[in-house]
Amino acid sequence: MVNIIVSGINGRMGRAIEEMCKASDKYTIIGGVDVTLGIPHEFPTVSDINELSGKADAIIDFSHHSASKALCDYAVKTVTPVIFCTTGYTEDELAIIKEASEKVAVFRSGNMSLGINLLIELSKKAAEILEGFDIEIIEQHHNQKLDAPSGTALMIADGIKSVREKSEYVYDRTQVRQKRAQNEVGIHSVRGGSIVGEHEVLFAGRNENITLRHSALSREVFADGALKAAEYIKGKKAGMYNMGNVLEGLI
Ligand SMILES: NC(=O)c1ccc[n+]([C@@H]2O[C@H](COP(=O)([O-])OP(=O)(O)OC[C@H]3O[C@@H](n4cnc5c(N)ncnc54)[C@H](O)[C@@H]3O)[C@@H](O)[C@H]2O)c1
Repeated sequence: MVNIIVSGINGRMGRAIEEMCKASDKYTIIGGVDVTLGIPHEFPTVSDINELSGKADAIIDFSHHSASKALCDYAVKTVTPVIFCTTGYTEDELAIIKEASEKVAVFRSGNMSLGINLLIELSKKAAEILEGFDIEIIEQHHNQKLDAPSGTALMIADGIKSVREKSEYVYDRTQVRQKRAQNEVGIHSVRGGSIVGEHEVLFAGRNENITLRHSALSREVFADGALKAAEYIKGKKAGMYNMGNVLEGLI
């Protein structure tokens, strides 16, 4: 059994995790934290994590980046591993998270989907093997998304850059009239309707093309990844972990 505290329990992701835990005999939520209370749960829910009693195996955070300091303090004080799934951290907050990882196990990933993290590993492998192939990343999201390209498209691009160090990201070809350079990684954003999240990596060669593609069908995919991360980080020593570590154990 993995005992979990969920920070942001009353949000969309918090509720998705709660539903998955209810249907599982592997994970139990022993406490919830949220700045907005009032929703009934089968476990205690508080606005300040320090009010919770009982020892968890991991804290899963899907709340707001500003919660990171309080969560790090609690994680260090109680030696409880913490999983940061929230996005949008400031540089200062990232420094606080890194400092905490020197004292307790800390997990952070901008995309908790196991499939996306596998797509990144496969893209790295393909980029290494398919020397000379042009690489283009195409992401699609719903019409309410504010940022472009998606953080996940950038995670994929960064993965590719880690094996093709001279890669240059190109987001827009409308301003220059010139041929594509071989070291370019084109990153393109499509916005429309209610698309949950599509990421495609095209490797275009002289005589053949290869496309790697991931489709997120619901937000449960992120809740599932967060629960797998909780199982992984239970009992781990201090350090910084991510979905790549979870994948290593599965490949
Ligand atoms: N890493 C991933 O794969 C992934 C996937 C989905 C969402 N996210 C991120 O997770 C976060 C939450 O997403 P969501 O869709 O559930 O949002 P949401 O707005 O539905 O829920 C956030 C919840 O956190 C609560 N909250 C806000 N500030 C808080 C604080 N300081 N302490 C405790 N609780 C606080 C809110 O009251 C709300 O209930 C966002 O940053 C989102 O980008 C990451």
